[in-house]
Amino acid sequence: AQADDYSLMQQAADYYQQQLQQHANGPAVQQYLAKRGLSAQTISDFQLGYAPDGWDGVLQQLSNGKPRALREQLVELKLVNRNDNGREYDFFRDRLMFPIHDKRGRVIAFGGRILNDGQPKYLNSPETRLFHKGRELYGLYQVRQQPGHLKQLLVVEGYMDVVALAEHDIRFAVACLGTATTSDQMHTLFRYSPKVICCYDGDRAGRDAAWRALQNALPQLKDGVELNFVFLPDGEDPDSLVQKEGKAAFMARLEQAQPLKQYLFEHLLQEFDANTDGGKSALLVKGSELIKQIPSSFYQEILQQKLDNLLGRSSERLKPVNSRQQARPAPATI
Ligand code: UTP
Ligand code: MN
Ligand code: MN
Ligand code: MN
Ligand code: MN
Repeated sequence: AQADDYSLMQQAADYYQQQLQQHANGPAVQQYLAKRGLSAQTISDFQLGYAPDGWDGVLQQLSNGKPRALREQLVELKLVNRNDNGREYDFFRDRLMFPIHDKRGRVIAFGGRILNDGQPKYLNSPETRLFHKGRELYGLYQVRQQPGHLKQLLVVEGYMDVVALAEHDIRFAVACLGTATTSDQMHTLFRYSPKVICCYDGDRAGRDAAWRALQNALPQLKDGVELNFVFLPDGEDPDSLVQKEGKAAFMARLEQAQPLKQYLFEHLLQEFDANTDGGKSALLVKGSELIKQIPSSFYQEILQQKLDNLLGRSSERLKPVNSRQQARPAPATI
């Protein structure tokens, strides 16, 4: 990072925040935020802002009267685009702005939501020297500011989910920024909290994201950690649901989260039929492949037992292919 990269990003965040108050469109954006149930306190906690609809708002604000090199830096930080003709213009225009902070609270990127139903719904900063999408978690900085809130971490898909949950005093949610939660993100999550709950949208994409998150989590599953999954009703996401049913009902869903071992086998049994030899053999191969990625011998053993039970065999007889437990005594079956 160049010395003043972070300072420029913070200046941009300040500018967007200020535009939410001062721009002619400010009242309309504030009305949008009110419609989405967000209070002034939450808007300020997350430093939400408004990128004006002109072409050179941030460009003028940050580079006026400054040396040419600064415009280059704005392009490198992707606050400003430069087209083939060398024309420079704001990257974010007419959007509700969510600053993305690193764990220390420095602004490293932005997500910008469109205020109507145009496309793309969210525009995100591309990768820069400050921002590596698959590594960051939106909202982690805010969670870290809350004493005692690292007992568990809730992983959701979107910016709005994190912010709406905070509005309802559920202040331990982070968002994986649109990608499926990566292995890097899982590593980070477990570094901060021993208990992680994944809660993605109640749609096809959300269910796919849950399965990918499980697969990415297995290599991070050490003794002492716990990973659970919550599945939401069709068409709901954490934002829509907490607005609808409130904090207590949403917290009850988290209490009833599915442990990893339950979700893993429920998912495999949707794909493979444990009543046929074809299904059983596929289940053995796929199950063993997943289990062997786990560093915790505790999780390896309980999952292996469950797999053995499903296959109707005792652990002693057949060893799964490539099992790490080859030389060890077989765990007792339940
Ligand atoms: P969703 O489509 O579920 O949006 O995307 P949302 O968060 O519920 O948004 P609202 O409630 O309509 O405002 C979930 C997350 O995926 C990423 C964003 O991080 C978003 O919050 N995403 C989505 C993008 O990066 N680009 C998109 O065009 C859409
Ligand atoms: Mn979605
Ligand atoms: Mn959503
Ligand atoms: Mn939503
Ligand atoms: Mn409410």
